[in-house]
Amino acid sequence: MRKWYGVIGDPIGHSLSPVMHEFWFSRSGIDARYEAFHVTKENLVKAVDGLRALGASGFNVTVPHKSAVIPLLDETDKDARIIGAVNTVVHSGGRLIGYNTDGIGFLKSIETRFPEICAGKPSVLVLGAGGAAKAVALTLAKYMAGRLDVCNRTLKKAEALSETCREFCPSEACELSGADEQLSRYDIVINCTSVGLQADTDGQVVDAAGARRGTLFADLIYRPSRTPFLRQAESLGNPVLNGLPMLVYQGAYAFKKWTGIMPNVSEGEKLLQSLFS
Ligand code: ATR
Repeated sequence: MRKWYGVIGDPIGHSLSPVMHEFWFSRSGIDARYEAFHVTKENLVKAVDGLRALGASGFNVTVPHKSAVIPLLDETDKDARIIGAVNTVVHSGGRLIGYNTDGIGFLKSIETRFPEICAGKPSVLVLGAGGAAKAVALTLAKYMAGRLDVCNRTLKKAEALSETCREFCPSEACELSGADEQLSRYDIVINCTSVGLQADTDGQVVDAAGARRGTLFADLIYRPSRTPFLRQAESLGNPVLNGLPMLVYQGAYAFKKWTGIMPNVSEGEKLLQSLFS
């Protein structure tokens, strides 16, 4: 029988997940569909009940529901509980089980492209302390970083995230406005804020000029024109990574949770790139 999957979020019109997952289903010979559903906060409970009742085999969860969905599930994986957000749900044996593949998606995207930097217990600076920053910071603190500091516009949120990271590696918090002077201390700097998401007029989250030339600059934002943050770092000769590989890897790990099959990540990335050109 044909299986079906989906993604719930608000807004959802921009989602690249349906095209990516349907491509992988087809390549894997799996008879399945994947649909994007616009679900407002008011309708989240009804939507999750509906997905359960109608027999979705699994679904993705995106902004703004990644935390709110947790109490609606039967079980949540330990890493997702620590992060406090779920982006992937498996429906199995009548139970909804939540996972977070955002953190592992980022980790794999950076490890695959920059193995030398990642293997050396790098010191990492995470800019931002929202949902995406939590997934990235906690995963890197647990599995990769020698130290991981967090800078955020709202210091309190940086302090809370840094404290959770400290369970896994040394970590300090600072205000985003103080990040520029600190950059030379880091091997990797990651923008997890939404600065640069909309347009170049958003400005630049930090001034990359103070970093060492080998420092890797990464941005979770995947818009094809690159953020001013990445463009400046690249023009200074630094290695850079935008958010597209992370998007593909988080999707690939969700696909693996659902099907047991790791799909072809580079084919998925080429497909999404072709949509931009
Ligand atoms: P996401 O789920 O994408 O992480 P989020 O949880 O709303 O979204 O987090 C947005 C992040 O971008 C936060 O770190 C936020 O900083 P605050 O915690 O101070 O709100 C950061 N952010 C958003 N707009 C910003 C701006 N104009 N300047 C600096 N940081 C900004």
